[in-house]
Amino acid sequence: MDVSNYKDSEFLEKYKKAPLLHPFVVFPALHKALGDVKNKKVLDLGCGSGDFSHSLVERGANVIGVDVSEKWIDICKKEYANVKNLGFFVADGSNLKQLADDTFDFVVMNMVLLNVPTLDKVKKIFQEVSRVLKKSGQLIFTDLHPLALMIEKTLCESQTYLPGFSYFKDGSKFKSKVKLTDGSEIEFGDIHWTLETYTRCLSDSKMCIIRIIEPQPINEAPSFLKDYKIPEHIILVCNKH
Ligand SMILES: C[S@@+](CC[C@H](N)C(=O)[O-])C[C@H]1O[C@@H](n2cnc3c(N)ncnc32)[C@H](O)[C@@H]1O
Repeated sequence: MDVSNYKDSEFLEKYKKAPLLHPFVVFPALHKALGDVKNKKVLDLGCGSGDFSHSLVERGANVIGVDVSEKWIDICKKEYANVKNLGFFVADGSNLKQLADDTFDFVVMNMVLLNVPTLDKVKKIFQEVSRVLKKSGQLIFTDLHPLALMIEKTLCESQTYLPGFSYFKDGSKFKSKVKLTDGSEIEFGDIHWTLETYTRCLSDSKMCIIRIIEPQPINEAPSFLKDYKIPEHIILVCNKH
């Protein structure tokens, strides 16, 4: 199995501990990029454990989390059963037929496209995101920063390239070992898409990048993150026009 398997309960159990950089780097930067989400409609596409979806509801948003993994959605539904303004259902981002056009103020996709196996599906995901976004709505998505991808070992992760890997080759496969909040590690099987491909998919879907964020640790981060010198994530803020 080359790509991370979100049907595997053991893998999900590990992921539940959360990548260390989520609470200390990525989530705070995503919240800052989203700004005031009170009464805003947000789609968390590829919501995984639902932790980020829930954090948005705590800030006053009305959130739907979708994921292609039935196991994740079962977990989310149980964990957040009594939370208002938060709903989850199983869906593939390349076909969001359950959702109407022009519905959401924001779509968030945190570290999802690395798990999407074909370029055709990546393109369809951008098209569906654009369809369900309101006019002037925003897509905010993240990926592994290209610097971290090519440096092999950074503070919180290390990459192993599978045969044939090239930065320029869309669909190249690599493995990524990522530090979790409890100090243990999880290994993802990931797929690489170039920034050039993302910009093409965006413009083909009536969206464009308005800002790139290279998030850094917040003050409350563990002290070893003071040595955080290489960006491990990139956040792309995109407008639908
Ligand atoms: C690395 S996890 C990120 C989970 C979550 N966004 C987070 O911040 O922790 C990638 C997630 O994307 C989901 N995913 C992959 N392909 C998808 C697709 N085509 N449609 C919806 N979800 C997808 C996976 O099931 C997995 O939960």
